[in-house]
Amino acid sequence: MSADKVFHSRSEGIPSEGVRDQYADGKAARIWKKFIGDSNQRTQNYKDFLTGLLRQHGCERVLDAACGTGIDSMMLVDEGFKVVSVDASDKMLKHALKARWEKRKNPKYDEWVIEEANWETLHRDIQSFLPNVQLDAVICLGNSFAHLLSESGDQSEQKTALSNFAKCLKPGGLLFIDHRNYDAMIDSGATPGNSIYYNCKYPVDIKTSVLVVRGKPELVTLDYCIDATEDGDINDRSEFRLCYYPHKLGKFTEMLDEAFGKNAKHEIYGDFLPLGKVKTPAFYIHVLQKPKN
Ligand SMILES: C[S@@+](CC[C@H](N)C(=O)[O-])C[C@H]1O[C@@H](n2cnc3c(N)ncnc32)[C@H](O)[C@@H]1O
Repeated sequence: MSADKVFHSRSEGIPSEGVRDQYADGKAARIWKKFIGDSNQRTQNYKDFLTGLLRQHGCERVLDAACGTGIDSMMLVDEGFKVVSVDASDKMLKHALKARWEKRKNPKYDEWVIEEANWETLHRDIQSFLPNVQLDAVICLGNSFAHLLSESGDQSEQKTALSNFAKCLKPGGLLFIDHRNYDAMIDSGATPGNSIYYNCKYPVDIKTSVLVVRGKPELVTLDYCIDATEDGDINDRSEFRLCYYPHKLGKFTEMLDEAFGKNAKHEIYGDFLPLGKVKTPAFYIHVLQKPKN
């Protein structure tokens, strides 16, 4: 079922067919850097969590599968990882490419690879510019994966994407993937305004809508309003709409286990802490280790 038939899930200017680039009108891309800040505004909890686990497992080469404007990729490059960054949105990639150009005098950035790729064809896309590469880790973070909706109605697009993540990893490689706590959002109808990933200095209002079709939540729409007028270079408040598949923890856990096979290790964190430590986490972060053989 296409949710668009019953509910207008896109900002104007976003095509309803083809690869769903929800960032195609450039509105979110333009404000994104202000919204999430620069690498230095990544929360320490997030940075410690991600870099700590990567180092603990000896990971060197990391694929940022939803690099957006390149914020997490830059954090990892600065920390000495070799990073391959991909995204389906050229409007978002444009900012990552510009950031790499601005850092061209820093030798750490010489090997930063940035390319366009779509999760549904990710393994094939990556082979076209890095043949036979197998990564030590793949990250798909910042509430990105939920952008992939299910037009088929059976979540097959999401299952294909997850198995592509597994294919890109070497045996023993790690996948980091997250989703908001949609179970709690559906119950409360609200989205936490603060983020566990970044420190935003501007007022952010998020209006939450849940579309329920035949008794099942099918789509969560978040209307963001970010007031960055104080900086003067944006004339008005920025408003954009993004929509998400409301992954429930139980079902998402099952899909990941299916994609990685029963011998994979799977740990789940709530707001970067072991599950159960935070009563109602804003985000669940799954860390999977592909079987070693
Ligand atoms: C919420 S942004 C997050 C970006 C970045 N990780 C961050 O934290 O700022 C989600 C990103 O996922 C990308 N994306 C959505 N669907 C995709 C797909 N099917 N394949 C590749 N990238 C996709 C979007 O273009 C967008 O840049």
